[in-house]
Amino acid sequence: MADFSLQDSLAAWEANADFWDSYMGDNSNRFHREVVKPRVTELLAIAPGDRVLEVACGNGNFAAGMAAAGARVTAVDYSPRMIELARKRHPADGVDFRVTDATDEDQLMALAEMGPFDKAVSNMAVMDMTDIAPLFRCVAHMLKPGGCFVFATQHPCFTTLTDRYLTPHAYMGEGIAGQPVEQCYYHRSLQDILNLCFRCGFVVDGCYEEAYGGKERPDVIILRCIKA
Ligand SMILES: C[S@@+](CC[C@H](N)C(=O)[O-])C[C@H]1O[C@@H](n2cnc3c(N)ncnc32)[C@H](O)[C@@H]1O
Repeated sequence: MADFSLQDSLAAWEANADFWDSYMGDNSNRFHREVVKPRVTELLAIAPGDRVLEVACGNGNFAAGMAAAGARVTAVDYSPRMIELARKRHPADGVDFRVTDATDEDQLMALAEMGPFDKAVSNMAVMDMTDIAPLFRCVAHMLKPGGCFVFATQHPCFTTLTDRYLTPHAYMGEGIAGQPVEQCYYHRSLQDILNLCFRCGFVVDGCYEEAYGGKERPDVIILRCIKA
């Protein structure tokens, strides 16, 4: 797909990390609370003692919530500044925060020592990643059989559209009004995302399309993938 490199995308998130953390605060924004969190929480169905991997955890709010529900959580993000802020915001919540690039198979597989995981989750980040194949492959590898990977991402049919749908492509955009720099987005069609899930041995058994503010066009798609 290219257009914008991993270095371009990481530089943008490093530049935006402080803004993101103070904007999200302890409870995240209304979009996350109303559009992302309810269905992801429902599909993930955290049980006390679950070993969970969160990928692209941002400032760590969702990870801290899972830990409060009794899960043993490893939460990773590729932005060192974001991880520093997550640790500062959640010093006593028992989450193991680590810097890990989800496009790097070796870095991901280094997390296997914390597994095998019962569950994995990624909120609003698949569309931010230069390459998602390593993530799906490695998560499939690190989950227990029957374990699930729940992810929420911008709905490719309605949100990440430029003038193209079928061809993967990258573009720059603003996630939150007023953020210091634009970030890199990577559009993939629904068939590209789903076929990657299937190739990695996942069965999709849950799906929601969620719209902000009662619209008819969904902003977000949330999928639950079960390791067959
Ligand atoms: C839109 S934010 C979402 C943060 C958090 N999951 C939430 O919902 O509040 C996207 C996050 O993905 C992270 N990210 C983007 N590409 C990544 C990669 N290759 N590996 C790990 N994290 C990545 C960014 O640093 C950022 O924290």
